Amino acid sequence: MILTTQQALEVFERRVSVRKYDPTKKVSEQDFATILEFARRSPSSVGSEPWKFLVIQNPELRAKIKPFAWGMQSGMDDASYIVMILAKKNARYDSEFFADVMDRRGFTAEQREKALAKYKSFQTVDMPIADDECKLFDWASKQTYIALANMMTGAAMIGVDSCPIEGMNYEQVTNILVEEGLLDPEDYGLSVAVTFGYRSAEIAPKERKAIEDIVTWA
Ligand SMILES: Cc1cc2nc3c(=O)[nH]c(=O)nc-3n(C[C@H](O)[C@H](O)[C@H](O)COP(=O)(O)O)c2cc1C
Repeated sequence: MILTTQQALEVFERRVSVRKYDPTKKVSEQDFATILEFARRSPSSVGSEPWKFLVIQNPELRAKIKPFAWGMQSGMDDASYIVMILAKKNARYDSEFFADVMDRRGFTAEQREKALAKYKSFQTVDMPIADDECKLFDWASKQTYIALANMMTGAAMIGVDSCPIEGMNYEQVTNILVEEGLLDPEDYGLSVAVTFGYRSAEIAPKERKAIEDIVTWA
């Protein structure tokens, strides 16, 4: 099924960042499962899927995180779902993680060799990140933002509201997740969060820059 142009634009207008959710309305498990599926189906560079999605539902855990998550204060109490999106660390071309990517894609030995050479030149020459842990993490983190966007736009398509969240103390929130045994800091790092629920009041879409101010044709 293909949406009309008007329907598609309406979805994008419907998606606004919701800061206050209606505490009496909860997103169904089925709708949330669909939103997770939007994340899972998201594209990622070389099909790396360098992400994990930590769904924070336990009220005690939410209360622990709340003092360090200034960007989602009311969301912490009222959001139907809070997702911490984690990004893979050290996703180097020659890591086990990449070997798994190739396994998943069902490469033959010959295809693996070719792919490895390509990933190597990509990560060492074209986008030199292989020898810098920070850059490797940022690369993985960039991929997670694609999943983030798809989750939010997809949610809007099924009538669910959301808010992306960078407003938190990353070190403190990471420490809590590590203490709770939810995050191995050697393996993954906190990238971005997102809340889901239903808006408590109607919200007008925010103004945007004019198309001619952001697009250059050459
Ligand atoms: C990566 C990212 C992080 C954000 N972090 C927060 C946040 O912590 N708290 C918040 O209330 N809004 C947050 N926002 C929402 C932005 O303020 C919002 O997207 C922007 O003002 C445009 O408004 P709109 O989303 O309603 O169109 C974030 C947005 C993005 C894309």
